[in-house]
Amino acid sequence: PRVAVVVVAAGSGTRLGAELPKAFVRLDGPTLLERSLYAVRGMRHAADAVLVVPAGRVEEASAIAVAVFGRPVSVVPGGATRQQSVAAGLAALADDVEVVLVHDAARALTPSRLFDAVVAAVAETGHGVIPGLPVSDTIKRVAADGTVHETVDRSALAAVQTPQGFPRDQLLAAYAAATTDETDDAGLIAAAGFAVTVVPGEALAFKITTPHDLQRAHDLIAPPSQ
Ligand code: CTP
Ligand code: MG
Repeated sequence: PRVAVVVVAAGSGTRLGAELPKAFVRLDGPTLLERSLYAVRGMRHAADAVLVVPAGRVEEASAIAVAVFGRPVSVVPGGATRQQSVAAGLAALADDVEVVLVHDAARALTPSRLFDAVVAAVAETGHGVIPGLPVSDTIKRVAADGTVHETVDRSALAAVQTPQGFPRDQLLAAYAAATTDETDDAGLIAAAGFAVTVVPGEALAFKITTPHDLQRAHDLIAPPSQ
């Protein structure tokens, strides 16, 4: 199938607290956005890229994309929420794209093989596929006042990641029908009544959210010298 990866990079990165929007923060040289584009470039299954960036950074991101891919790619300004940014990216898809992956630029160390695994699983199942990892901590249900209730059965839980992949028609239908603001695309797909299954995620696909996450990413790239 023809595949497109929508890379959402339009957030401000409030929790990271850098001077720049998070996707434009450097991690040992390249920015988080550049590292995410390298992962798309490294896929075995060739894919289009669509970039969604802060409104004032469209030109800068276009130049970055040309440097990475050697050709122009679609770059569009994002919206106030992640969901609005994804919607902006979906509006820029080429007509004959059949499978759409949506990826957080903030998951900058995600390996190319996870993108390929998601594409393969969408092609095989014909529905939505999201990477997920088992939850290792004990999880409690807690009341607003801090009272601890029961332990949640973690065998029924997954910590989900991106890239999340969907048949184009299902994703566009889910976005067209959206009445809530969801933190991931599978949430909208489920609300629209489409099936979603989980495939094994990757530890390296963790989201860089806080300064501690950025430090952890740095440590993973540069092993400590003796
Ligand atoms: N994102 C986006 N448009 C938004 C909000 C988020 O494109 N309006 C993107 C971010 O750029 C990021 C991904 O969605 O790649 C996941 O969001 P998150 O990690 O929450 O990033 P930020 O919203 O930028 O960070 P924060 O919530 O700390 O402000
Ligand atoms: Mg956010």
